Amino acid sequence: MTPGGVNAGIKFFEPYPIFMRRARGSHVWDVDGNEYVDYLMSYGALILGHGSEIVVRAAESVFTSVGTTVMGTPTEMEIEYGKTLRDLYHKDGLLRFTNSGLEATSLALRLSRAYTGKRKVAKFEGHYHGAVDHLLFSYSPSTGSAGKAESPVPIADSAEVDNRFLSDSLVLPFNDWEATHKLIVSHAKELACVIMEPFEEGVIAGDPRFMGNLRKLTRDLGIPLIYDEVKTGFRVRLCGAGEFYSITPDLTCLGKIIGGGLPIGALVGDLEIMGLLDPRKERKRRVFHSGTFNGNPLSLSVGNATVEELRRKGRFDTLRMRTTRLKQALSRSLSQRQIPHTVAGEGGMFNIYMTSKPVRNHRDVQNSDMRLRRFLDIELISRGVYLKPENRYCLSLAHTEDDVETTKERFAESLDAEMPRSN
Ligand SMILES: Cc1ncc(COP(=O)(O)O)c(C=O)c1O
Repeated sequence: MTPGGVNAGIKFFEPYPIFMRRARGSHVWDVDGNEYVDYLMSYGALILGHGSEIVVRAAESVFTSVGTTVMGTPTEMEIEYGKTLRDLYHKDGLLRFTNSGLEATSLALRLSRAYTGKRKVAKFEGHYHGAVDHLLFSYSPSTGSAGKAESPVPIADSAEVDNRFLSDSLVLPFNDWEATHKLIVSHAKELACVIMEPFEEGVIAGDPRFMGNLRKLTRDLGIPLIYDEVKTGFRVRLCGAGEFYSITPDLTCLGKIIGGGLPIGALVGDLEIMGLLDPRKERKRRVFHSGTFNGNPLSLSVGNATVEELRRKGRFDTLRMRTTRLKQALSRSLSQRQIPHTVAGEGGMFNIYMTSKPVRNHRDVQNSDMRLRRFLDIELISRGVYLKPENRYCLSLAHTEDDVETTKERFAESLDAEMPRSN
């Protein structure tokens, strides 16, 4: 019925994706009735777990207090929740809601181009910014085809990504300052922005010096720096990766958690750049942005309740401590069996790479033992621990100590399963 059985390419995995029927808290059940501890958490979007009472109450309250799901005019909730997000991410800035992460990143590009009058977009190899043609390159190139590590070439991630988008792009090597500096300086006159996941794949941290240097260089050259915090927002820290590094980018893209499980995105940032969206601006400089469901009361109310809960004293620390306990336990299990691995991630998510070497960017990920990782993940799924193979572990406030204990046991059993030899 759907190509590959999925409605989003990212949801597919070999041998086939699993159809789920229902979910509650930290658990999901498939159509055959099998139960799993869920570490996908809808790619990190659900931080209170499935079907949280807080979410249900917030959704119900929209019908009782607002009386509708969408109005087509500004509403009070846009001020209330917008202000919360703005104050957490860019105190002196402005914010626009969108319906998805990719709409936020697309808007960030359009604004940067209008602001600088330049076209070229610099992005990092291995960083994902949504299924939008302007940014759909070099997310997951195989190392063989992507040029030298210090000067990667743009590789389209989809058929029919127009060559125009590739020629408007510059690909940078994450965590290699010398090469990144050289590439940015030599293209500075054409660059409209530098966009990045401040933690690659949401988990691989930038070296603090690399991140600091990049902020300084882009500021000195007048190139807007965009943090795409769709994964890291409210997961790495309450105020995202910006807080972790003590760096304020010019624009921040948000999504996932900020909708509490409903579709949403947001762009927040610099007054002058965001000000170009003001419909009162003279036509020549004005940037158009619209969307029927932007800022709809349902997504905003649920998002607001979710973020309020997360900001309650001790809530984020609980999530962080439970995540740390799990990642340390899994790492111990691997070490006991002398399996080379590196664990990466901060706050409420992490990933495990099967290599003894430091994992600093996409090339290092490609050089890890992905076959072993896939094997392990399928073994885990068959034992009732669900995550998308090779993807990161995302925890929620619904995950319990029992979940952690069960996962530790199932992980150890999976490690002791015999991996078939490759042909
Ligand atoms: C860093 C990042 N940016 C953008 C997006 C796109 O968000 P959406 O799927 O809501 O369009 C994603 C989605 O996973 C993401 O991880």
